[in-house]
Amino acid sequence: MEVIIQPNHHQIASIAANIIRDAILKKPNLVLGLATGSTPIELYKILVRMHRDDGLDFSDVTTFNLDEYVGIPLDHPQSYHTFMAHHFFDHVNIPKANQHIPQNISDNHEEFCASYEEKIVCAGGIDIQILGIGTDGHIGFNEVSSSLASRTRIVTLSQSTLEANAIHFNCDVNAVPQMALTMGIATIMEAKKCLLLACGTSKSQAIAKAIEGPITSMVPASILQMHPNTVTIIDEAASSMLSEVEYYNRSYANMLSL
Ligand code: F6R
Repeated sequence: MEVIIQPNHHQIASIAANIIRDAILKKPNLVLGLATGSTPIELYKILVRMHRDDGLDFSDVTTFNLDEYVGIPLDHPQSYHTFMAHHFFDHVNIPKANQHIPQNISDNHEEFCASYEEKIVCAGGIDIQILGIGTDGHIGFNEVSSSLASRTRIVTLSQSTLEANAIHFNCDVNAVPQMALTMGIATIMEAKKCLLLACGTSKSQAIAKAIEGPITSMVPASILQMHPNTVTIIDEAASSMLSEVEYYNRSYANMLSL
């Protein structure tokens, strides 16, 4: 796993945005896996700027979001549909038909989840998957103890996720939906490249366990150690509990000088 440590959030987002821009220039029909949450907001801002100011063309790009709450309407201010429209989709030229977000409109979740997986396969698989990480090490809404072989499915959110996300629901933990649809861990692992982004001290323990700890379903992100092409881009605060910082920095410096 490549680990890139940067001084601040903006630089993390810039590196991720440059990787995505270069990939789109090389393959205009790129398939992007997208995350929500506070971490990728700066990345979306930079991609929007690249579209607006430099003409980066998303017209052939297809996207698949990791997850969505179950039990709130799609147009709820805190739904991930609303989040994506507000931070990204309303500002770039990705055709609506190419935008995919898990959605809770039918009662038949199993059928929906199977069709979501099928759509990813039909699109040729995810080229680049953007990931954030929960303070407990979750990716997508794959909570602690999720099967490392899990596929897209309906899940119950952990207390730690409910508490972390309460900030978006007027700090009322009871207002946060209890359940969500999420891509599975095995689904994420099939992406050709993963970009794991994290910033802040609150993520330092999860990052240390995910990168340097044992691979375990108790830290779902630790499975990325088995992914052949994951780049973890984090700030110094998030790197503060890593033991191999000197090596990661030297390795990145050597890569830049190639
Ligand atoms: C959201 C998602 C989650 C978040 C994680 C971190 O689509 O996949 O796994 O990435 O909860 O959230 P933030 O970035 O808000 O700290």
